[in-house]
Amino acid sequence: MEWATDAGLLTVIEPTDDELAPHIDTLVAAYNDPRNATLLGHTSDLCADDVREHYVSLRAAGAHPVLFQCDGVLAGDGDLRGVGNGIAEFAFLIAAPSQQGRGLGTRFATMVHAYAFGTLQLARVYASVIPTNTASLRVFEKLGYRVDSSETAREFADEGDLTLSIDRERFCAQHAAAMTAIQIMR
Ligand SMILES: CC(C)(COP(=O)(O)OP(=O)(O)OC[C@H]1O[C@@H](n2cnc3c(N)ncnc32)[C@H](O)[C@@H]1OP(=O)(O)O)[C@@H](O)C(=O)NCCC(=O)NCCS
Repeated sequence: MEWATDAGLLTVIEPTDDELAPHIDTLVAAYNDPRNATLLGHTSDLCADDVREHYVSLRAAGAHPVLFQCDGVLAGDGDLRGVGNGIAEFAFLIAAPSQQGRGLGTRFATMVHAYAFGTLQLARVYASVIPTNTASLRVFEKLGYRVDSSETAREFADEGDLTLSIDRERFCAQHAAAMTAIQIMR
């Protein structure tokens, strides 16, 4: 997927192992950054093999793990997991804390949702967020998510998480211009 934006040329790819390999060290550092780890719910440091295994196990479970790049430089990663019966959960990370809060997370999340609703034709996407994660909650608000405490939403959550969701109609109505501008290569 590509999107030419004011922030740069944004690309989202579902990487092969070879495409993932050059980015493993950056992802290890990002996952282990104390500010990110707390918000991601990680309780211990991860190593390169853990990151590789994370991607392998997501793919094996039918998930869509993706890398985010801005002007060819890795900006973060994310995934659609728990994909089935027209639903999925979305999770994401902007790798360097110095790059967070500049609008990249909102844009990459918009791209992944354009794929989820436009290509995969999912009916609803869920998110679970630590209640103190202001930036993440704000991104989900900007995407059009609403609080969802249904049984299905809670199945994606850790205890104490806030659960939210958005349906295809709402996303497509709110982000029609972005969906037109985002190029999805099949
Ligand atoms: C959550 C995350 C992916 C969002 O990406 P981002 O690039 O920071 O998000 P954006 O810049 O697009 O939007 C963030 C919004 O939150 C606001 N915000 C509030 N507190 C913030 C904070 N401490 N840091 C960053 N943004 C903050 C920003 O002002 C912005 O809103 P605005 O556009 O109305 O001004 C990113 O911050 C991140 O990777 N955090 C660590 C990992 C994580 O929390 N992942 C999500 C788990 S659910």
